[in-house]
Amino acid sequence: MKKVMFVCLGNICRSPVGEAVFRHLVEERGLGAKYTCDSSGTSAFHEGADPDPRMGITAEKHGVPMDHKAQQFTKSHYEIFDVIIAMDRSNYQGIISTSQNHKLRDKVHMLREFDPEADSPQAEVPDPYYKGGMEAFEEVYQMAVRSCNQLIDELEAGRL
Ligand code: 4NP
Repeated sequence: MKKVMFVCLGNICRSPVGEAVFRHLVEERGLGAKYTCDSSGTSAFHEGADPDPRMGITAEKHGVPMDHKAQQFTKSHYEIFDVIIAMDRSNYQGIISTSQNHKLRDKVHMLREFDPEADSPQAEVPDPYYKGGMEAFEEVYQMAVRSCNQLIDELEAGRL
């Protein structure tokens, strides 16, 4: 069983949708027994909270249920999970700052490294929280679908 952790700042918008989309796609491909996933935030701002309703409505509209309570990313997550997926550069830095063990860094990737429509491997998932409009949440959802599909391809090919 490969363990995949999605990480953003608040764990109420981007990483829980990454987790929900990843789980949905894995199930759809009949690979549910091979992967487990979770999500967390580098901050504890929303600890215990449900996903932002704007993100939840967007995912539900596409038939992807979101069921998660926000939690903060910890050093033990860093050790236990096999693959850690950051939404933006700041989350990436937050993750690697939780441990002095530099070998752990090899498991950390940016989600949009796997987005076939990204302009660069450093592309970020923009934070939709303060933007307000539903288009920002739809954009995040579509990035998650494109990127998770390719992430699963990479995992299945044994490249991650
Ligand atoms: P997320 O979005 O990192 O995608 O969950 C945010 C949610 C809340 C805040 C920032 C980003 N906040 O500052 O409260």
